[in-house]
Amino acid sequence: MIGVYYYPEQWPEAQWPRDIKQIKKMGMTHIHMGEFAWHRLEPEEGCYAFEWLDRAIELAESNGLQVILCTPTATPPIWMTTHYPDTLMVKPNGRRAQHGSRAHRCVNSNTFNRLAEKMALQLAQRYGRRKLVCGWQLDNEIGHYEDGPCYCPTCTIEFRRYLQQRYGEIDALNHAWAGDFWSQRYQHFSQIELPNRETLAYSVNEHALLDFKRFFSISLSRFLTRQSQTMRPHLHGDAWMTHNFIADDPHHYPGHVTAGLDLYSLTSYPVTGDFSGASHRQLFRIGNPFEIAHSHDLMRSYNGRWGVMEQQPGQVNWGPVNPRPWPGSTRLWLWTAIAHGAELLDTYRYRQPLSGSEQYHAGLMALDGTTLTQGGADFVTVAQEIERFAGHLDAPAAVSQPKAAILMDWDSLTALKIHPQSQRFDARSTHKKFYGGLKQLGLDVDFLHSPSASELARYKVVCSGLFDLIDSDHLTDWITYVEQGGHLIITPRTATRDTHGHFPQVRYGDRLKALTGATITGCDSLPTGHAGTIRLTPTGEEIRWHRWAEQYQTDRSTTPLAQFTDQFYAGAVAAFTRRKANGNVTCIGFDQQEGIEKLIAAVLPQQIAGISPLPENTLFRIRGALGIFLNYNDTGVEIPPHLYKHAEIVLGSHQVEPASVTLMQYKDCQATRPVNTRRLS
Ligand code: GAL
Repeated sequence: MIGVYYYPEQWPEAQWPRDIKQIKKMGMTHIHMGEFAWHRLEPEEGCYAFEWLDRAIELAESNGLQVILCTPTATPPIWMTTHYPDTLMVKPNGRRAQHGSRAHRCVNSNTFNRLAEKMALQLAQRYGRRKLVCGWQLDNEIGHYEDGPCYCPTCTIEFRRYLQQRYGEIDALNHAWAGDFWSQRYQHFSQIELPNRETLAYSVNEHALLDFKRFFSISLSRFLTRQSQTMRPHLHGDAWMTHNFIADDPHHYPGHVTAGLDLYSLTSYPVTGDFSGASHRQLFRIGNPFEIAHSHDLMRSYNGRWGVMEQQPGQVNWGPVNPRPWPGSTRLWLWTAIAHGAELLDTYRYRQPLSGSEQYHAGLMALDGTTLTQGGADFVTVAQEIERFAGHLDAPAAVSQPKAAILMDWDSLTALKIHPQSQRFDARSTHKKFYGGLKQLGLDVDFLHSPSASELARYKVVCSGLFDLIDSDHLTDWITYVEQGGHLIITPRTATRDTHGHFPQVRYGDRLKALTGATITGCDSLPTGHAGTIRLTPTGEEIRWHRWAEQYQTDRSTTPLAQFTDQFYAGAVAAFTRRKANGNVTCIGFDQQEGIEKLIAAVLPQQIAGISPLPENTLFRIRGALGIFLNYNDTGVEIPPHLYKHAEIVLGSHQVEPASVTLMQYKDCQATRPVNTRRLS
């Protein structure tokens, strides 16, 4: 499915027929509506006005488009703010959010839940059985953006209830929160407040904050599940439900949504000006391929079904700089999503708004409402290409790519964000760097959330992904994995703490000693203006680092891969690899992208047959009968011949233009007819 957001409520009704006809003409298969329209659907409490949406849906139907409808609960109307202030979230400074923006609702407010479920039910009862309404988006980007959690009295009561369920006895909580220091013991759950730096005299208790973050993420998830349960009985059997996630939201873990969603979808905005790269290059106009693919593989990991709900269509308004994307980038991003298995492609938005919020945000149409933008032209091209290759994409996999996995533990990444030790260290960025190290080798990377031993065994390579808060059972599984022939890559900040976030009573990092044979003698991060140096043994190059580095003392069973060349610990090992039984353990204890990529590229091809690095800033993935090569460079790139040795190029060429894509079809692999109409056909 490929389609576009349209907000009928924002445009004169006389223009709807022209716009919707044009959407169909562009090759779109669906239209996405109703997302923020609560004020129009229920202008006064209990007074519903669906006729305008009926007419927009009729137009979609008469033009042969399917419809994705949304519950508008991210933007409650003014009557709710006025009559029910308890529906408003409270900001960390203790003030209720005002009306006039969005995401001002508290998902734990009983009043809000009651009104939201009433709205959702009305929508489901009115449109749920209509076949052309193929899918539902519940709410949008759940949460309150950078404000993080809500601090209202209802959330306080709910938090206490959550803690009581989690710990049972107050003493268990006192232990988990290390209450014996600074007189932080509690006598009753009712004494606990929401941990809030704004109201505490000094720093927040890290364990309390981790629990609060978990609680808030679970609250958001529960809100989505409740909405889906309200609606589901009224929907036809093929209708799917999704939420539009921010892939890397530090405040919400999609894995906490345990029921209700059929498909996980995300917003994808690769070019906002927030990009550090070589200043003489234009990569900031194309985006970081590994970060984009990281978000795709992450979305894919929850239940295997995923899509892009909002693919950036051009210049945006909310980034720090908002440069123009490189022509063709939108097509490249869409193909990247297809390559990673997306079954839904959609974009915010069809028309650029003439006024109001997001006025400078590009759409598929320019300000006049009739001229295609570059992003619009890219969507038209991709719609045609999908039609041409749908059978190839849905075919059974032609060849299998070597598989790697990276572990994804939200608690660990959250705990490391709460207490990074150095403000210059960012756990999520480090996770992406190691993911990038695997992707540069053309490996197909799955994310695993708390995997069992048998799940690990399915992968040639597993990367620990900063899994820091870990129990001993998982560590035992890692040992088994390696002994049975697996290749384990250990990142910095792995397995140093237990699931409460406490250090075990051993030397720092020593729980890994059975695997690594090494001791961590220290960890360092350097202040602004300082950089240390590390020599990479395989290439002889020296790299500069400053964010985080662990110093190892290793024994004879290991081969050093990198050593510090300055600081008082010059000569200490910074990375090493070690054979253990039938497998290998590789430890890279620093966070420096180039060094991580170079060491992974030096080690893995020697340990695993048939893999070699792709050209810089490119991706390769196989979907169905097609190999998809994606060039994120501002210069042309030659595809390595081994990739198309057994394939015929069917779109593009082996010399790939900047920000472009080449498709190759594997020989002897027939395209099938699309098997599932809900998929990308
Ligand atoms: C998304 C959001 C949309 C719109 C868009 C602008 O994150 O879901 O509603 O604000 O950003 O780029």
